[in-house]
Amino acid sequence: MIYRLLFLYFSVVHAELEMVQVLVRHGDRAPSFTFPLDEPFEVEKYFPRGYSQLTQQGFKQAKEVGTFLRNRYSGLVDGFNRKETLIRSSDKDRCIETAMGITLSLFPDDIVPVHTFSHYKHDLLLKPNSVYCRRVDELVKDDKKLLNSVVDRHHKELLSFLSEKTGWDVTGSKISDVFNVLYRKYSNNVPQPVWVNEVLSNVTELKRQYRTIQFDSDEKSKMRTGYLLGQITKDMNEQKDSGRRMIVYATHDATVTSMMYSLGISDHKLIPYTAALILELHNVNNRKHVKIIYRNSTVSPPQEMRLPGCDVLCPMEAYQRFVSNRIVANKEEHDALCQNHIFQNIQEPKFDSSLPQNLPEEDNLLSTTLLTVGSLSYFDLYASMKMKN
Ligand SMILES: *[C@@H]1O[C@H](CO)[C@@H](O)[C@H](O)[C@H]1NC(C)=O
Ligand SMILES: *[C@@H]1O[C@H](CO)[C@@H](O)[C@H](O)[C@H]1NC(C)=O
Repeated sequence: MIYRLLFLYFSVVHAELEMVQVLVRHGDRAPSFTFPLDEPFEVEKYFPRGYSQLTQQGFKQAKEVGTFLRNRYSGLVDGFNRKETLIRSSDKDRCIETAMGITLSLFPDDIVPVHTFSHYKHDLLLKPNSVYCRRVDELVKDDKKLLNSVVDRHHKELLSFLSEKTGWDVTGSKISDVFNVLYRKYSNNVPQPVWVNEVLSNVTELKRQYRTIQFDSDEKSKMRTGYLLGQITKDMNEQKDSGRRMIVYATHDATVTSMMYSLGISDHKLIPYTAALILELHNVNNRKHVKIIYRNSTVSPPQEMRLPGCDVLCPMEAYQRFVSNRIVANKEEHDALCQNHIFQNIQEPKFDSSLPQNLPEEDNLLSTTLLTVGSLSYFDLYASMKMKN
């Protein structure tokens, strides 16, 4: 520490921020559904934008993120310039709207395009946990079985209480659905019976466990966010030629969670609404450094994160070494890692170019295809295998 202070004192440090990449979760949202015994409430009053959608509160949170970015990066981007700034969203409405909220306060005087990628089941960049991956489905299925048996054994009382109150047969694997309703009504001040207060923190803790097992290893997170990590790294390496200064990715808690595991910086917690994982590219005395910050609160300053074995300002070479075998270069490599080739011999489906359908919410499904292969069209399976990025 003393050494570093002396170093700073005696040398003229030339430091410059060259680029920033922001991975942000969408804002507050409505529940996806309700449960059979839920007390009737005015859905239109509390969720006028509909189930699963961004709420007014969520849009406000998005604008707040825009203000934060505008203040922090005012020297880096002044006004919107399409060569310098890219806004890319998952195809889910709540993410696109979050991106719009951010741009509204980040670039109030400009018209800003929000790029996306349809269909979300093929968006390996920003909706990776909806992209078919056989191997990770299997890993998660095994871990989930284990967790189910522990939870069903240790939380018998809670589960039977929840079954009685909700009208669902609540086992461990149903906890995410319970959380979906209880927490999202709670965060929007929908009046709920007293028992909800008594169980909400326990339900949230179990939800956390079910969420983290989907991403909590190097192997799982590589198959989910290895591709995004590759893109982020590539954009840093090509910054000089591209002239890019800011990229904002609007996405889901799953993507942020997995990316934190990809970077070895997870706190094993749930990701709050509009939490942002930010990678800054700094030039210090002509050497590139990466600084990672995690903004998971609007009241305290963002957390400075450390890649394992690195300083907060991590030299590019050390960063590269760390991420090199956590990156997935393209869709073919993803398919290979996921061992998706097992379906290679299925009959080629008729090409379907229709626009994305309003498919049911997938947030709380463990994963996509293994569980729903019966109802999923072959097109989904096939296109996710064949898609080139
Ligand atoms: C909630 O969790 C706490 C701590 O694990 C436990 O003592 C309590 O009994 C649980 N409450 C319910 C309703 O299961
Ligand atoms: C925010 O992130 C830090 C670092 O990961 C963690 O210690 C803290 O508990 C988090 N706070 C919330 C509210 O998630």
